[in-house]
Amino acid sequence: MDLEGKVAVVTGAGRGLGRAYAEALAAAGAAVVVNDVDAEGVAQVAKAITDRGGRATAVAAPVGPTATANRLVETAVREYGRLDVMVTNAGILRDRVLWKMSDDDFDAVIDVHLRGTFTCARAAVAHMRAQGTGGRLILISSPAGQRGNFGQTNYAAAKAGIVAMARTWAMELAKAEVTVNAVVPVAATEMTRTIPAFAALIEESERTGQPLPDQVRKQDGMGTVEDVASLIVFLASDASDAITGQAIGIGGDKLSLWSHPTEKAVRYADGGWTAEAIADAWPIGEPETYGVQ
Ligand SMILES: NC(=O)c1ccc[n+]([C@@H]2O[C@H](COP(=O)([O-])OP(=O)(O)OC[C@H]3O[C@@H](n4cnc5c(N)ncnc54)[C@H](O)[C@@H]3O)[C@@H](O)[C@H]2O)c1
Repeated sequence: MDLEGKVAVVTGAGRGLGRAYAEALAAAGAAVVVNDVDAEGVAQVAKAITDRGGRATAVAAPVGPTATANRLVETAVREYGRLDVMVTNAGILRDRVLWKMSDDDFDAVIDVHLRGTFTCARAAVAHMRAQGTGGRLILISSPAGQRGNFGQTNYAAAKAGIVAMARTWAMELAKAEVTVNAVVPVAATEMTRTIPAFAALIEESERTGQPLPDQVRKQDGMGTVEDVASLIVFLASDASDAITGQAIGIGGDKLSLWSHPTEKAVRYADGGWTAEAIADAWPIGEPETYGVQ
């Protein structure tokens, strides 16, 4: 995939998946504005890219506020003359069950993921529409947003909201030829290391230098950050011109297309439903499962 001439912003690119996205986009020829709240991390990533002959500029700032979003777009335009791709990847976890989750836990996660995606996408689109050559919004969701997950009220809400925004913006931006898709990644990172079921597997793989077991790469769909970066490069490229409004999963050996919520069973009652009539009619279809397995 040749991204020569394209300019991308990747938020949360100081380590983990964001770093892999930035490095893969740069390796494919794009100039990249790399952002992270961790100034040292993001400076190292920019240096690693430029040391390899790529083009990268670091912006250390917290995603969430509009001022950061504007600064990222202004940096892309000032340094590289345009903006083609916005990847909203920055993220944090503050896991607690509902009855123990504080206002701060809730607000911090919503601020980085949901508000950060909104402000960065809005700033990018203002420029892309004026530029008049289309563009790409690549939003980062999560299996937790698609299914719900124990202890992740804040995170699941933010990640589900991000997919809802992708569908909404795909409609609003079709005329401007800006495609909008949500990526649903799974990869071994510092974030997944905090999940007990994955921690031991990741440590074993690092200790032995062996890839994660085939079953993990296929059934759990979890592998390396580089596995996920391939999808970001594809979505950034001209080859994905016709793809918009989708939630696309990737991890390990698995690539998947998530379905969108739809009415799967419908009944009608003449003149409307009473509570008693609903009780008599229920269930009207096979109940849905929920939660990340
Ligand atoms: N790792 C997975 O399996 C997985 C699964 C689903 C979704 N995701 C999502 O992918 C993204 C990256 O996850 P990761 O596993 O690489 O996590 P990570 O914790 O390794 O990296 C996240 C990066 O975001 C940065 N960051 C945090 N708050 C920020 C802010 N306000 N502004 C700018 N940067 C900020 C952190 O400093 C860090 O460098 C997140 O949005 C995460 O929710 C990851």
